[in-house]
Amino acid sequence: MSSIIIYLSESGNTKKAAELIASKTNSDIERLEPVEPYPDDYDELVKMSGNQRDNNIHPEIANKFNLNKYDTIYLGYPTWYHQEPMIIDSFFETVDLKNKTVVPFTTTYNSEFSESQPFIEKLAEDNKVQLGNGFRANSEAEIESGLK
Ligand SMILES: Cc1cc2nc3c(=O)[nH]c(=O)nc-3n(C[C@H](O)[C@H](O)[C@H](O)COP(=O)(O)O)c2cc1C
Repeated sequence: MSSIIIYLSESGNTKKAAELIASKTNSDIERLEPVEPYPDDYDELVKMSGNQRDNNIHPEIANKFNLNKYDTIYLGYPTWYHQEPMIIDSFFETVDLKNKTVVPFTTTYNSEFSESQPFIEKLAEDNKVQLGNGFRANSEAEIESGLK
C-alpha cells in the first residue's frame, strides 16, 4: 500500500512542506482545490475565510479523488484563525476515507498544531476516520520529527 499528500496552500508554505513530506515518504501528492477559488488578495482571503468560519460554511471541493490504492493520507493545511480552513471539514465529510489513516499537518505563522488539533479530532470522530499523529510543518526539522 502507499501514501499520498493532499494539501491546501494559498501562499505556498504548506505546498513547500507537502513537497518535502512527499519526497521524504515517497508519496504521491495532490493539491486540494476549492470549486470557488480562494482570492489571491490577502484582505479578500481574510474576508472570505473568516466568513466561512463564522457561518460554518463548508466549501465544495473540486477534486475527484481516487484514493483506492492509498492507506495513508497526509492532509496539509494552513492554520487560519487558530483552526483548520473550513474546506478541511468538507474533506472529512465528503471524501471516502474508510480504512485509511489521515495524518494531519499544518503550517502556521506561530500557532501550534495543538490549536487546530481538537477540531481535526472532532471531524475524525464525527466522520469515523482514523487519525495518525499530526504535527506542525513550519520547518524541515519539524517535519522530520513529525514523521518519526
Ligand atoms: C485568514 C488567515 C488566518 C490566519 N490565522 C493564523 C493563526 O491563527 N495562527 C497562525 O499562526 N497563523 C495564521 N495565519 C498564517 C498562516 O497560517 C501561515 O502563513 C501559513 O503558513 C500559510 O500557509 P500557505 O502559504 O500554505 O497558505 C493566517 C493566515 C490567513 C490568511
